[in-house]
Amino acid sequence: MAKAAEKAGQASQYKRIMLKMSGEVLMGDKEYGLDSDTVKRVAQDIKEVVDLGVEVCVVVGAGNIYRGVSGAAEGMDRTTADYMGMLGIVINALALQNALEHIKVYSRVQSAIRMDSICEPYIRRKAFRHMQKGRVVIFAAGTGNPYFTTDTAAALRASEMNCNAIFKATKVDGVYTADPEKDKSATRFDKVSYMDVLTKDLKVMDATAISLARENNIPIVVFSVKEKGNFAKVVQSKGDYTVVSD
Ligand code: GTP
Repeated sequence: MAKAAEKAGQASQYKRIMLKMSGEVLMGDKEYGLDSDTVKRVAQDIKEVVDLGVEVCVVVGAGNIYRGVSGAAEGMDRTTADYMGMLGIVINALALQNALEHIKVYSRVQSAIRMDSICEPYIRRKAFRHMQKGRVVIFAAGTGNPYFTTDTAAALRASEMNCNAIFKATKVDGVYTADPEKDKSATRFDKVSYMDVLTKDLKVMDATAISLARENNIPIVVFSVKEKGNFAKVVQSKGDYTVVSD
């Protein structure tokens, strides 16, 4: 597949990447839950990148599911709420796996919390083998620990899996000087340092995730997942995005 992509003039500088996607992406225009057309579209976006010959692993959040239960979760202790979030991630991971397999992209879900009758447990060496065989590996249940975000899970798994970059899928096409939805004069950075993200509080990912990426020298590519096909474009260094690196 990689050779076919090269022949067609499509190439990527990346061998293996981590896609970090918030759960909200998967709800499309709904208020919460999963929007099946959006899940299918995201799966198609991932397929385009796999077809470029890039090994892809995914960490997804659970904001779309958590929103639906946030009323009930109000007043709940943080640890319990975080575990509910981790279960939400597993729901999203299974939905994404199902959509990928419908379009013949083979995938495996590995959970940080063992739930063997539902999916595989996280085993690093097995995840490598899956990716070498062209399978997308979806890492579910975050880090398996409360108090850690899914951004941190993405940075952790990207470090463990020797990913060349973390692709952070958002609603906007990069990192701006201010929130572009609120401040029309905000401008997008093409490149920004990890330190600037931390000291200027640019809200790319939480500080733990940024520090982990920095320590392991993994660039974070912030891009918009709203437009169909944009993921493959950005993986080929085309279009608009921001790279966070040293
Ligand atoms: P290779 O044979 O090494 O290429 O990988 P494979 O993933 O196809 O083989 P394996 O026999 O490990 O898995 C076969 C199927 O069972 C796959 O769909 C796996 O995702 C699934 N599977 C493997 N281990 C577990 C597990 O612990 N729990 C669950 N629920 N499914 C598993």
